[in-house]
Formats: sequence, structure tokens, C-alpha cells
Amino acid sequence: MANPSLLILAGDGIGPEVMAEVKKIIHWMGARRGVTFDVTEDLVGGCAYDKHGVPLHDDTMAKAQEVDAVLLGAVGGPKYDTLDFSVKPERGLLRLRKEMDLFSNLRPAQCFDALADFSSLKKDVVAGLDIVIVRELTSGVYFGEPRGIFTEGNERVGINTQRYTESEIARVARSAFELARKRANKVCSMEKANVMESGILWRDVVQEIHDKEYPDVQLSHMYADNGAMQLVRWPKQFDVIVTDNLFGDVLSDCAAMLTGSLGMLPSASLGAPMANGRPKALYEPVHGSAPDIAGQGKANPIACILSFAMALRYSFDMGEDATRVEKAVEQVLADGLRTADLMGPEGGTPISTTQMGDAIVAALDKSL
Ligand code: IPM
Ligand code: MG
Repeated sequence: MANPSLLILAGDGIGPEVMAEVKKIIHWMGARRGVTFDVTEDLVGGCAYDKHGVPLHDDTMAKAQEVDAVLLGAVGGPKYDTLDFSVKPERGLLRLRKEMDLFSNLRPAQCFDALADFSSLKKDVVAGLDIVIVRELTSGVYFGEPRGIFTEGNERVGINTQRYTESEIARVARSAFELARKRANKVCSMEKANVMESGILWRDVVQEIHDKEYPDVQLSHMYADNGAMQLVRWPKQFDVIVTDNLFGDVLSDCAAMLTGSLGMLPSASLGAPMANGRPKALYEPVHGSAPDIAGQGKANPIACILSFAMALRYSFDMGEDATRVEKAVEQVLADGLRTADLMGPEGGTPISTTQMGDAIVAALDKSL
């Protein structure tokens, strides 16, 4: 059988630094677990713009469609802020999501015991937190037409369109219900049905799919603004949250921060099954390119490493090794190792990006 294939798009800012640590884990899987990945590397974001004048070259797009999974670091940076909208680094990422049709974005927010004190919320509110936001990723206001900046009379008007079809809502709802069945069997769907027609349709369709196909799953609905409030008030009331593209963007940053650091959280963006039965997939940390600390060895590689763990689980049927990586991360945190972003008010000496990667590899060695 052919080796599993991976396309690595490290991107900009801290992307390449954190991805270098993931490569150590990929290498470890080959050396110690006998699973060799065929790895190709390419450019996305600002670095692709620098070389090709576009944030994602067509050849890269074609490669992404062929591999078993794509691993992405981060895109963007101040250098590219003044670029035309159509070639901004983020457009590269959005093109990947759209053309690979990665409609289901899984964003877990899990609080590691060793870091429970680190959240800006009280420890008992976050300790043991384990929720997943399922964000619709290929439609909604991110992609709806009409869009643009137009002139009306003597002023400009900016327009974006929130648009959802029934089938778009149904497929992401199914992925949330499927996921819930493997967890605490609870889904909360969030929209603004009180002010948006697309929200009314969202609520209806999620309820229909539930009643017909997943009546065993506990389903509730919440307005997204209340959802944001509840996330901060008592996040442990949730198991799986399913929501649209824009609310999912905002709510997932909020959920991420509950756990103490954006530097810890992975994500998986999944599409329809390919010929081999595995979903089309892209894995990336929730954090951005952090240009302020890029190139200084300060970045936390854990989110990117945990994204690779998600790839092992969802793309490569290597759930046991995924757990092994997650346990290794837990172990180094329990041992007190901290990158700069995990320094509490009490201070201490942070370790570097590479030291964190090496420590996780050492913990993996011990796990055998
Ligand atoms: C995210 C990011 C992206 C988004 C940006 C970089 C386009 O914020 O993945 O959450 O808005 O989806
Ligand atoms: Mg975001």
C-alpha cells in the first residue's frame, strides 16, 4: 500500500517555526511507529505572494486536492496589510477551504489540568473543560454574493451576504451529531433566529436532521449572543456546539481563550469522503501567524502538534498514536515545561519552541 501523503504549508510568521517541531513528530512516527509519510512542502499566504504574486498558486491548490491531508501553519503579517484584498494572505487559506469544500471545522477547546490556573476565568469554571465547536466553513457571510464596496449616490456602501442552503446546513449538522455520538451525545446549535431569516432556516434544518436521523442525541438551540455569554459564564454546560461560519469564527476564539492560551488549540477542517473513504482534510492551529514574536523561538508549537494528532485520528486511522501525542503534550505540561505564552503572573523561565518540540518527542519515546 502507498505511504500516507501529507502536504505541508507552513506559511508565514511563526508558521515555519511551529511546523519544524511537527516535522520531528512526523519523523518519529516513521522511525518508531513504522508509519512513513510522503511529505511535500509548498507555500501559502504572504510567502506565496512574494514568490508568485498570489497567496496560493494553482499548482499548490492541485496538490492539496490530491494528498490524504494538508497541514497548515499560519498566514499573514503586517508586511501584507496594504495588499489588494484579492491577494491578501488570508485569501489563500479561504481558497483552500472553499475549493476542497471543507465544510466542517472542528475546533476543540480543552483545558489541560496543568494550565487550569492560567485561564482568565476561575479555575472551577474551566478545569476539565472539553468542548468542540463545529463551525460551518465554506458558506455564509464569508462567501455569499452579492459582496463588495459599491457607490450609492454620493457615498460608498459595503455589502456582504449571509446565505445558507438547506443542504449546507444539513451536512454540517450531521457532522456535529456524528461527533456528539462519540462524546457526551449533546449538541447546542447557535444562530440568531430572532433577527435573521438564515438563522430561522438554520434552526429548522438542524431540528429536522435531528428528529429524522439523530433523535438519540440531546439537542438544544441558543441565540449566538447568549451562547457567547454562556461560554464565559459556565462553559462546561456544552459538549458540541454547531454554528455558522462567522459566529463560529468569533465563538471559537472566545472558547479558545477559556483554556488559557490560543497557542494550545488545534483544528481540523473536514470535507466529503474521498475515494479511499477518508474525508478531504486540512489541519491547522487556531492561532495566527503572530508576527510580533516570529523568528525568535518563542512560539508555542503545541497547537500545531495537536493539529497533526487530529490528522492521525481523522485522516489516518491512527487514533492510538493520536492519543499518544496528546498524552505526551499533557506530560510535558505536567512536568512544568512552558513556552513564553504560558508564563503566568508568577513568572518563571520559558523554554524555546525547539525545546518544547524536543521535550514532546522525548515524552513520546518514553511512551513506548
Ligand atoms: C480563523 C481565522 C480566519 C477566518 C482568517 C485568517 C481568514 O480567523 O481561521 O479563525 O476568519 O476564518
Ligand atoms: Mg478566527
